[in-house]
Formats: sequence, C-alpha cells, structure tokens
Amino acid sequence: MDLSTTYLGLRLPHPLIVGAGPLGDDLDRVRALEDAGAAMLVLRSLYEEEITGEQMDALMFEESHADSFPEAGSFAPEPTMALGPEEYLEHLRRVKAAVRIPVIASLNGVTPGGWLSYARLLEEAGADGLELHLYHAASDMTMSAADVERQSVDVVREVKRSLRIPVAVKLAPLLTAFAHFARQLDDAGANGLVLFTRFHRIDLDVAELEVIRTLPLSDSSELPLRLRGTAALAGRVKASLAVTGGVHAGIDVIKATMAGAHATQLVSALLRQGPEHLRTVRREIEEWMQEHEWTSLNEMRGNMSLQRIPDPAAYERANFRMALR
Ligand SMILES: Cc1cc2nc3c(=O)[nH]c(=O)nc-3n(C[C@H](O)[C@H](O)[C@H](O)COP(=O)(O)O)c2cc1C
Repeated sequence: MDLSTTYLGLRLPHPLIVGAGPLGDDLDRVRALEDAGAAMLVLRSLYEEEITGEQMDALMFEESHADSFPEAGSFAPEPTMALGPEEYLEHLRRVKAAVRIPVIASLNGVTPGGWLSYARLLEEAGADGLELHLYHAASDMTMSAADVERQSVDVVREVKRSLRIPVAVKLAPLLTAFAHFARQLDDAGANGLVLFTRFHRIDLDVAELEVIRTLPLSDSSELPLRLRGTAALAGRVKASLAVTGGVHAGIDVIKATMAGAHATQLVSALLRQGPEHLRTVRREIEEWMQEHEWTSLNEMRGNMSLQRIPDPAAYERANFRMALR
C-alpha cells in the first residue's frame, strides 16, 4: 500500500502531519510524535507583534491562549506561554536536533515590513519550511477586500524573495473570492496552501461584562468546509494543498485526498487521543484502501475535485438549489 505523497516539494511517507499548536512545544512529545510515525511537524506560530514588540491585540493573540482548550484530554501538553522571538529560534534548533522528520516554523502576521526578515532567521535555524498564517481581522473600515488581499500577497512575495525553504500559506475560510485569492498567492510563489484556519469561539458574559474565549477541540464535522475549498483548488494551482480542521480518522484523510489534498494536519485529534492516534489513523487508511481496492493515495488524489466537473460554478449552484428544496 503506497501512502507516500509530496508536500511543499518534500517527499513524505504518508500525508499525516502534526499541525501548528502546542504539540510541538515539548521535546519528549515531539519525539513521541515522530516515534508514532508523524510525517512532519509544524510548530506553533510566532506572532508579528512578538517580533516587532508591539502591543498584542487580544484578538490576534487568540491562538496562543494556553487555557483556551479546556476539554483537551490528558495528552494536552502543560500550558506554555507564547515563546518570544529568541526563544522561538532556540526551541526550533532543539526540535530540529531531536527529530529527523521535517520541521516547519510558523509565522502569524499581516503587514509587509521589517519583521519579515525574521523568516530568514528561521531558515538559518534549520526550519525545513515556513507556514505563514495570514490571519487578518479585517476590521479596518477603510480597507477594502482587495486591499486586505493585496497586503497578504505582498507578505508572501516578500517572504519568498528572501527564503530558499518552501513557504505554505494558511488561509481563513472567510473570503469573498476565495479561488481568485488562492491563485494570487500561487502566482506570488506560495509552495503550499493550508485550508483553513479555525477561529476561536467568542461569547459574551453579559453579567460580568467579559468576553469569553474558548477554542473547543474540533470533530470531523468541520471537515466538509475544507473539502469544498480543497476540491475547488485541486489541479488548478501549482502549490500543494493541505487540509487542517476536522481530520480525526482514516476516512477523513481519504476524503481530503479525493478532494485533492497532498497532506492533512492533525491537532485536536492528537491533543485528545495522544501521539499513538497517528498509528490508528494510518491503519484505518490502509484498511479502507484494501477494502476498496486502492493501492496508492496518488491515484485517488483529486478524483473528486471540482476540476473533474465540466462547469464547477453551475454544479455548485445546482447543489445549492437542491439543498434549499
Ligand atoms: C490549542 C491550539 C493552539 C493552536 N495554535 C496555533 C498556532 O499557534 N498557529 C496556527 O497556525 N494554528 C494554531 N492552531 C490551529 C491548528 O493548527 C489547526 O489549524 C486547527 O486546530 C484545526 O485543526 P484540528 O481540527 O486538527 O484541530 C491551534 C489549535 C489549537 C487547538
């Protein structure tokens, strides 16, 4: 059974990647993930504001909140504070020395500028690739959608100019013209597109006048949005595609692959079930393929992408009309 894939130009034995988050914070955990067969590891993000020393907007800080995933099981690492720029480089060096699998660093930011030179330091510290998390709050009323997108594309172009390692871009699902934006990123040289960011759940405590922020772990019901995005891009961009969000079981990986994904990232599933869950998912993929007489993931990749449909827009509208009946 051939599960091999190529993601960001790197040949991987299978598409199961540890996604950005706290799983890469601890060296013992990182070794356990490699032992359980992780094909690649993405470290948590370092934020633009942490590099520039600016005051962090609470919303931008969302994904580094240590106490915001209360239902993570005993496999959740001890909460760590966000790493500062120097500590991040040092941690990256240690992780690289601890494992042989490719290690991807992650930067979260939106504005082109000096802070991006930090990407170079990540490359020098040994990162095998960079995941750029372009999270834009888009709350500035003077910036149009086109302005926001142009800024993101400029960031990608600037980073690509200074790096030799591959660059993946992690996208939010809330875009007006998603496929057009993806193509601009592709043209700017993005080597991979990671679909999609998952937002914090925000609620209001109206008695205490406080904002309640939680990041409940996902389940497979979050996958379809990613399948749709992946299927829309498969075969139409040069960049490789990764799904993040709702990948918990072997069947989720099969669906992502048929939609056109080269890789799948897991975070919630591993926080809940521990590194050994990677073995289970891999076994489930192999069993499913055997049962359905597939011998390689490569031959099924993209066989359910929108590119296989003569008129994707008409098809989508037809589906929409049927769903409303
Ligand atoms: C506790 C926690 C911390 C996270 N930190 C980051 C981060 O630093 N950078 C990032 O790009 N994504 C971060 N994420 C998002 C994950 O990488 C992933 O995209 C998201 O959880 C969806 O995948 P899942 O359904 O497998 O959990 C974090 C997720 C969790 C649960």
